Amino acid sequence: MTKKSTHTVWHHATISREDREVLHGHKSAILWFTGLSGSGKSTLAHAVEDYLHKIGVSTYVLDGDNVRQGLCSDLGFSDSDRAENIRRIGELAKLMTDAGIITLTAFISPFISDRDIARKLVPSSDFLEIYCLCPIETCEQRDVKGLYKKARAGEIPFFTGIGSPYQIPENPELIVNTHEQTLSESVGHVIELLLHRGLIANIRD
Ligand code: ADX
Repeated sequence: MTKKSTHTVWHHATISREDREVLHGHKSAILWFTGLSGSGKSTLAHAVEDYLHKIGVSTYVLDGDNVRQGLCSDLGFSDSDRAENIRRIGELAKLMTDAGIITLTAFISPFISDRDIARKLVPSSDFLEIYCLCPIETCEQRDVKGLYKKARAGEIPFFTGIGSPYQIPENPELIVNTHEQTLSESVGHVIELLLHRGLIANIRD
């Protein structure tokens, strides 16, 4: 991306991220869910959000299909458009982290380099990559949105896993086998990770 915003000066807020974390009673962070279409990213992210919300944690889910109807509606599915999609989400999630929120992102984010760019936007402990592992055969069998069928019929070029690659995370903070575990088991693993990292240790009763 060519940077065009020159002559801008960062304005420092008087209220810091730490102030907001104290107000919320927990740390902020980015839970970056990645995986094939139909691997359960959105379902899991929303179920984790549901759990966290009920125990008083401030959260927000950024979901690929939703964000592509607004903020990223100008982007398609070429490699460069996907890179720009993920760059914007990374920047948005960074701002939300500064706002003291636990942000859950559910994007295919198929390329290691794009995910790494997002990771490097924030301190390393703020970014938890969660790989939703599900064989493409299972995603295709589920075909919740009917898109695999269309892709096989040649109606969707560059569909991830068919006409466009998915690069498996090399060192994710968590792998969730969404095809083997129940949803509540997967939620449990994510919550364990948050507790282990001390992100939700001080939640309000
Ligand atoms: S990403 O590759 O840029 O991270 P993103 O998560 O935003 O993708 O959007 C993926 C969603 O867009 C899929 O779940 C599916 O509903 C839809 N979609 C439409 N065309 C494609 C395509 N060519 N490849 C993958 N997903 C697509």
